[in-house]
Amino acid sequence: MDAILAQIEAHKEEIRTFETTDPELLEAFRIRFLGTKGIVKALMGEMKNVPADRRRDFGQVMNAFKETAEARYATLKEVMTVADAGSTGPDATLPGDPLSVGGRHPITLMRNRIVSIFRRMGFAVAEGPEIEDDWHNFTALNLGEDHPARDMQDTFYLSRRPDMLLRTHTSNVQIREMQRNKPPIRIVCPGRVYRNETVSARSHCFFHQVEGLYIDEGVSFADLKQTLYSFVKEMFGEDVRVRFRPSYFPFTEPSAEMDISCMLCKGEGCAVCKRTGWLEILGCGMVHPQVLSNCGIDPEKYNGYAFGMGIERPAMLKYGITDIRLFSENDVRFLRQFTAAT
Ligand code: PHE
Repeated sequence: MDAILAQIEAHKEEIRTFETTDPELLEAFRIRFLGTKGIVKALMGEMKNVPADRRRDFGQVMNAFKETAEARYATLKEVMTVADAGSTGPDATLPGDPLSVGGRHPITLMRNRIVSIFRRMGFAVAEGPEIEDDWHNFTALNLGEDHPARDMQDTFYLSRRPDMLLRTHTSNVQIREMQRNKPPIRIVCPGRVYRNETVSARSHCFFHQVEGLYIDEGVSFADLKQTLYSFVKEMFGEDVRVRFRPSYFPFTEPSAEMDISCMLCKGEGCAVCKRTGWLEILGCGMVHPQVLSNCGIDPEKYNGYAFGMGIERPAMLKYGITDIRLFSENDVRFLRQFTAAT
């Protein structure tokens, strides 16, 4: 009995250290240990010579032995199959199926263009929440509770939280940045905004804006104009003309709207500019002192300018898009056209 156990141990050692990648040698291994005339079978046959009180133990030893042989065989077989698949399976050196590369959305392209021009002029990018409280969207911007200008921006309120709304402009980010930072502050705030307007080819209930803010000591309206002149030249070209019209915003004083000469008809008058030769592209002005103090900035010491423009308008002009709804319909036939555009 002990002699047999010693033999089993020796075989086990042989099995454990057995290595091959040759299928014939592996088959020989299988036959030697696991074949019908193999060692496992032969040793099992010894069972009848084992004293009855040790048969149980012997059975367990034999089972373990058999499992060792089977496991080793399975492992080596597996290694061989994988290696085999490598040589006869798919050719990994073949070029892959072409992946269709997605394009950027035209709104993203236009936003990136606008933002990168201002970044080069030293503006940092700031972002903020689209779901906003009334204070950051209106009150801090000098739009008191019953300020008539609140009607200018038809607001979506949250039905479960009447004190919360979908921001109507990205000016909320300006407020947040002024609360958080000390001047000088020079930021642009790109983002999506919402207004409860009838959806048509020309207007949508959500759209995108880039707003800008510069707060420092001794900022002048001339600084604002020069910044916007430079922007327009970069964005629309050297020969585009600019004009400012006096306007009104509760958060700026004085306020203005800026038009550029229509680049489609070169100012002659066409359908896009409604025969005026001018396109309105942004609102701007000097930040109202009340807005500064609402945000904890001393209006005696600091002042600044702000401006805000839509992204859809210039994108429609640049890409010749005549219906604003196309931007949000996710029609790949539309979107695909911008794959290579910059
Ligand atoms: N917040 C204004 C709007 O959404 C745009 C604006 C920004 C005007 C800053 C003036 C100054 O209509």
